[in-house]
Amino acid sequence: MSANPKTPAADAPATNALWGGRFAGGPAAIMARINASIGFDQTLWRQDIAGSKAHAAMLAARGIIAEADAARIAEGLDRVAEEIDQGRFVFKTEHEDIHMNVEARLAEIIGEPAGRLHTARSRNDQVATDVRLWVRDALDRLDAGLAALQAALIDKAEANADAVMPGFTHLQPAQPVTFGHHLLAYVEMFGRDRSRIRDARSRLNECPLGSAALAGTSFPLDRHMTAAALGFDRPCANSLDGVSDRDFALEYLAVGSILAMHLSRFAEEIVIWTTDQFRFVRLTDAFTTGSSIMPQKRNPDAAELVRGKAGRVIGALTGLLVMMKGLPLTYAKDMQEDKEPVFDADDTLALCVAATTGMVLDMAPDRDAMRRACGGGFLTATDLADWCVRVLNVPFRQAHHITGRIVRAAEEKGVALWDLALADMRAVEPRITDDVFTVLTVEASVASRTSFGGTAPSRVREACAAARARFL
Ligand code: ARG
Repeated sequence: MSANPKTPAADAPATNALWGGRFAGGPAAIMARINASIGFDQTLWRQDIAGSKAHAAMLAARGIIAEADAARIAEGLDRVAEEIDQGRFVFKTEHEDIHMNVEARLAEIIGEPAGRLHTARSRNDQVATDVRLWVRDALDRLDAGLAALQAALIDKAEANADAVMPGFTHLQPAQPVTFGHHLLAYVEMFGRDRSRIRDARSRLNECPLGSAALAGTSFPLDRHMTAAALGFDRPCANSLDGVSDRDFALEYLAVGSILAMHLSRFAEEIVIWTTDQFRFVRLTDAFTTGSSIMPQKRNPDAAELVRGKAGRVIGALTGLLVMMKGLPLTYAKDMQEDKEPVFDADDTLALCVAATTGMVLDMAPDRDAMRRACGGGFLTATDLADWCVRVLNVPFRQAHHITGRIVRAAEEKGVALWDLALADMRAVEPRITDDVFTVLTVEASVASRTSFGGTAPSRVREACAAARARFL
């Protein structure tokens, strides 16, 4: 930028046509540049036009403007919408933002009545309304995307309800679980994300329009009418809060950040599962990429990007919190900075949810590899301890100790727990019988975990049906 910040832009208008009454000169080029939001807020055009139509209809219904003017405003706004939709609209930096771009064009199309649209309204309540409407749509889109992701996960879980794999704690093999059970854990996480979306949506759904600049207005508005026309539950109760609240954007980003965290955990598991060392899951060519130098590689780039993009969404939340903190009531131009993080988070989340759904549909679990991975870590040691409690009636702490010594014996012999000789177990605890072998296989282990929410294939199948009923 080479412009001298002290001098007006050569191409800048003398004064602003919409608010320039008290101004003698135009803005410096750098002022125009820092001030304008049209570069990014043009994405609010549908919401802006919907808000203006609702406002004009209400003004006419209350006799504040003439019905004929309201009709021309509505027709004119439809034409503006058509021009934007068809890519024929010329957005102008000199008109700063979407609100003034639309209004200026409306004035070109319909003339004088356009000037009546802004009665009893300010850009402060206008932008607050537009962004709320936009975020509401974003929440609805995100919810639909998550429902599709849950559906894909539940289908994959059902098909793999009895596929055993090691469950991990500390990323150390812990106990056998089923792949289906593991996938259903994510269905729960995304279910909570969706419930947070519903919560955020219900708190968001109050209409700022009619708060005007900050104090309300002397015109006899019907704020309930505009709120209802725009699908809001009610008008915001306090005009100062109406123009200066951005909690709904923060909540959207908070919901999105937790979701991004969930997506990144799943992505990380996909990265781990698709390594040569694990081989639990295979992604096809559709969701992997090659290396330009190492011909053997199949990299899970989509999963890595989902993992990495969480940073953008969490960054957006942090940025908006920092921007809002310490702002005195009411509107301040700082708040124009609310939009880009929200828009970027929306793009990012939509992409990450869709890519994750794609990977779930694409992934083929390798049941043999997952079962083999259950062989090494004495995964059924807890089952042995539970057997001692049940059959020998020893306290769990003592059973834990007995099992620990048996595991050590197996380790010394270099065999799995289920391949250890009965005599070796009896050397530790003489009352053990060969009935113990019925609980030592991984299949027996998972089949026995029938507690509610447990990993038994029968439970997993029930849980799939329940999840469909709860979420889809
Ligand atoms: N472009 C502005 C924003 O996004 C619209 C509101 C401007 N209001 C004002 N009083 N300058 O925040």
